[in-house]
Amino acid sequence: MAAGIDDIAIYIPRLYIDASDFAVNRGLDPVKLQKGLGVSQMAIVDANQDPACLAANACLQIMQKNKLSPEDIGRLYISTESAFDESKAMNSYVVGMLEQVYGQGAFEHCGGVETKFACVSGSYALYDNTNWIRAGEAEGKYALVVVSDIAKYDMGSSGEMTQGAGAVVMLLNDNPRLLAFDPKVTSTSIKDEYDFYRPFGKETPIVHGQYSNLLYMIQVRKALEAYKKKVLSTGLIKMGDDETILDHMDYINMHLPYSNMGKKALAYLVRHEWRQLPRWKKILSDIEMNEPIPKDPRGTIESVLGDNEFMAKDHEFTKMFTKTPEYQEIYESKLSSSLIASSMIGNLYTASLYLGFRSSLEFEHKKGIDLEGKRIGFGSYGSGSSAMVFSGIVQPNFKDIVGRMDLEAEIGNRRKLTWEEYEELHENKLSPEESMVHTNKEFVLVDVQTEKENRGERRYVFNE
Ligand code: CAA
Repeated sequence: MAAGIDDIAIYIPRLYIDASDFAVNRGLDPVKLQKGLGVSQMAIVDANQDPACLAANACLQIMQKNKLSPEDIGRLYISTESAFDESKAMNSYVVGMLEQVYGQGAFEHCGGVETKFACVSGSYALYDNTNWIRAGEAEGKYALVVVSDIAKYDMGSSGEMTQGAGAVVMLLNDNPRLLAFDPKVTSTSIKDEYDFYRPFGKETPIVHGQYSNLLYMIQVRKALEAYKKKVLSTGLIKMGDDETILDHMDYINMHLPYSNMGKKALAYLVRHEWRQLPRWKKILSDIEMNEPIPKDPRGTIESVLGDNEFMAKDHEFTKMFTKTPEYQEIYESKLSSSLIASSMIGNLYTASLYLGFRSSLEFEHKKGIDLEGKRIGFGSYGSGSSAMVFSGIVQPNFKDIVGRMDLEAEIGNRRKLTWEEYEELHENKLSPEESMVHTNKEFVLVDVQTEKENRGERRYVFNE
């Protein structure tokens, strides 16, 4: 049975900080953000928003757009790494908000959980719900999978220049208009790591930035190896002698903690995939440099990162490789359109990969490319750490969805924050009633209880 993404919607908060303003106030070169990381603007949540609000607003949008009633929905999953309760799942808050519009008890028949594994958990949620549909348990109902996050880092930390916020919701069914997932090939890798984590009670993560970058690439590569074995053994893809698995993906969507991480990760995967092929000899001869090898080639990530000579040479090699026409071709045709939304919005943790997918569809379609039948590969990564690689095929009715996509309009009117406003919001100095913008027809947070007997209870309203 086919199963996959029938429609997709986004909700992005109305406030943002401009990368140049950020750089000036932090004493950084604006070019580092804009060119080095690919960050132009970072979406910031208002004082009356939390990740549950973002998720509920995205859900309402996709339901209204498709004229769905709660009866049409069988499952509602939320994936996030911005949870604010250790027990009560974010789904229940979202259901509570949606029932303010659809009536109390309207979602009572639904199932679902909140899933957690840093940025990769949304991919696990998609996979589980796809299998719920494939197993024939959906009884004609849709699953809603929402990925919603606030990427907030400590002030003055290197992660602070890779913030953002937003939610993406995907509607799944057995007759998807957008993308049908390739069956029996989803592949994973998992390892106990401390590259990025957020201990109980801490609002911002503890991050080992460069370590996390390298681990991301290593883990996705491992999942890609497993994917390759599966596609060959299931016969999904037949590979010629001078081909790699990436040649069989028309588009490649990577997890995007910042836009340029996609570029970096793609270059890493392509290098590893091409190394055994005749085309690699030509690349080495064109760039007139051999691939550097670390002093301890089978060492740990720490030893590789600590090998300064290797790191400098490898950086130089990567720069030269990414300038070759061969890499440029794969970058431009398979990845570049997925990076556009990320540079305008920033890091969405769980939602980053899917914002990239959404971005790729719109901007490739706008180039006049017929997307029907194209295979899209996904490289999902979550710190801590796990990676997932999977793929799907764009469906014949994709234009019903993609033809109406308009990122600028969907983001809506945004207000640029001053530095003082940004700091006030970052330090949580404002209460919900001191929000910076008043929105219409959106769910907002009203208050969070502080009394002993109901501490942590949250109240939301739908702004008419
Ligand atoms: N002009 C132009 N480019 C410049 C520049 C300048 N003046 N200064 C630096 N650059 C370039 C650098 O060359 C580098 O480019 P390459 O990656 O191509 O080498 C880029 O800008 C970034 O510079 P640095 O690597 O020196 O940046 P940094 O070390 O200060 O911080 C970071 C980068 C480590 C990603 C940091 O922002 C961070 O810790 N972010 C949070 C963690 C993160 O996003 N990790 C990603 C993988 S883990 C994950 O994905 C989970 C998740 O969602 C968080």
